[in-house]
Amino acid sequence: MALNLLAFGAVFSSFAAAAPNALVSRQAPASNCTTNSFTIPSWLVQEFKTGASDASFAIQNRATGSSTTLTCKAGSGPGWSCSSSDTTLQVSLDIKDKKAGVEVKQSWSCNDRNPASPIAFAAAGSVSIPLTCEGTACKSSNPVDLVRGSLTTPFAITPEYAEGPPGHSQAGCSAVSEKPQWALNTIIFLNETGDGAGAVATQSIQFQVKNLANGYVAGCLNYFDDSADEVVLNCGGGIDLTRRNRYSVTTRTTFNPRSWAFTITETWYCDDVSAAQPVAYTGTGTTTLPLKCTASLGRTACEADSVPVSGSVTSRTALTPYSIEDPLPAADGCTISSVVSPAWTISNFEIVSSPALGGGHDHGGQTPSAPSTPATVGFNIKLNTQTNTFDYPVFVTNKGGAPTASGKDGDKEGWWPCTFGTGEQPLTPRSCKFAYEEGEKVLKVDADWVCVDLDAGSP
Ligand SMILES: *[C@@H]1O[C@H](CO)[C@@H](O)[C@H](O)[C@H]1NC(C)=O
Ligand SMILES: *[C@@H]1O[C@H](CO)[C@@H](O)[C@H](O)[C@H]1NC(C)=O
Repeated sequence: MALNLLAFGAVFSSFAAAAPNALVSRQAPASNCTTNSFTIPSWLVQEFKTGASDASFAIQNRATGSSTTLTCKAGSGPGWSCSSSDTTLQVSLDIKDKKAGVEVKQSWSCNDRNPASPIAFAAAGSVSIPLTCEGTACKSSNPVDLVRGSLTTPFAITPEYAEGPPGHSQAGCSAVSEKPQWALNTIIFLNETGDGAGAVATQSIQFQVKNLANGYVAGCLNYFDDSADEVVLNCGGGIDLTRRNRYSVTTRTTFNPRSWAFTITETWYCDDVSAAQPVAYTGTGTTTLPLKCTASLGRTACEADSVPVSGSVTSRTALTPYSIEDPLPAADGCTISSVVSPAWTISNFEIVSSPALGGGHDHGGQTPSAPSTPATVGFNIKLNTQTNTFDYPVFVTNKGGAPTASGKDGDKEGWWPCTFGTGEQPLTPRSCKFAYEEGEKVLKVDADWVCVDLDAGSP
């Protein structure tokens, strides 16, 4: 995506003009419509049913929340023809081998950000729905089906979904979770009593704990005081580089240094049976650690490995269908800011008046027709957005560049290409030019930039 800042106003109003008024007035402002359109452009297919020659179902847009009922008739060819009262929606259906192929295309608009100029969206996607049949009557095998889409308007974007918490779709996740089991490994309990002189007395316990339902391994470590009765360890693991996951596994364990009693309480997630029915499990387990100790002067080391822990489920919560891989709604990034409110943040603006490069307008005795030599101007520029992956400003200057003869909008002052630091190849802005009027202290910027935050594959 490359947008020209000055041209943006025009592009933006054409989005608004493209949205039919009827559509705009019919839609209640759905909360987060804009964010959801960019991050999860998709539909839910509900109540999917077919007979020998007719089918019916509802399509719900997950960004606007609006739902439409469709009825379809089998034609003479392979495709079925579907109709609804919603002219923004085009759906095609093809049924064979107990699978229904559904293709969805829709245009919609969101007015949650700026009611006066709604943002127009269009997206397309498809899904294959597994069918369960009795005679000629079939219905979806899932309680609800998800159609993930790719945006075509305002930009071609196929958003990345999150990975979801570790092992959520591992085969057997739900079944094993019903009787939770963990394996403790590399357990090391150290009791260093010190030597009364230099060495300090410390106690520590560490281990790794693997949940057999999802294969998730957490590492736990804590230091404690010899008077402690119960040591609480919060455990961590599974690096989440994207930080876009809606759910994450949490692990809390306790260890009693006198009795060696151990407990674990963990919350984890499974959607291996059906992504339409994700479940959050919380389970606990207890055991007494079979530690083997070796004592040497001032130090006792106790160890054990491969210790099984069986437990039970304390809570089972059904989550929103397909929510496991939905990204967490985040603050506006590059793409959304660029559409909703494109703006730059300028900092450290400086005018360097060097004699060699000119010091302003006030050199008497120069040829009147020659343009006044401007000062060397420099500043930091950064796209104004809430989460900037490339969150550093770019320093630009006109030093070393030559001004173009005329700027935009019939401006008289020269427009200078932005010169970036040596070797710098920024994305926001990717290139720019600017004009600075010393007399009126007006800075104008004309920039091109690139956003890769939603779909690195199509900037
Ligand atoms: C650590 O070792 C000291 C000395 O042997 C002993 O008195 C103390 O009870 C031990 N602490 C634990 C937690 O086992
Ligand atoms: C809407 O988005 C904001 C972040 O922009 C988020 O904090 C909030 O939870 C979202 N609301 C819903 C209902 O998803």
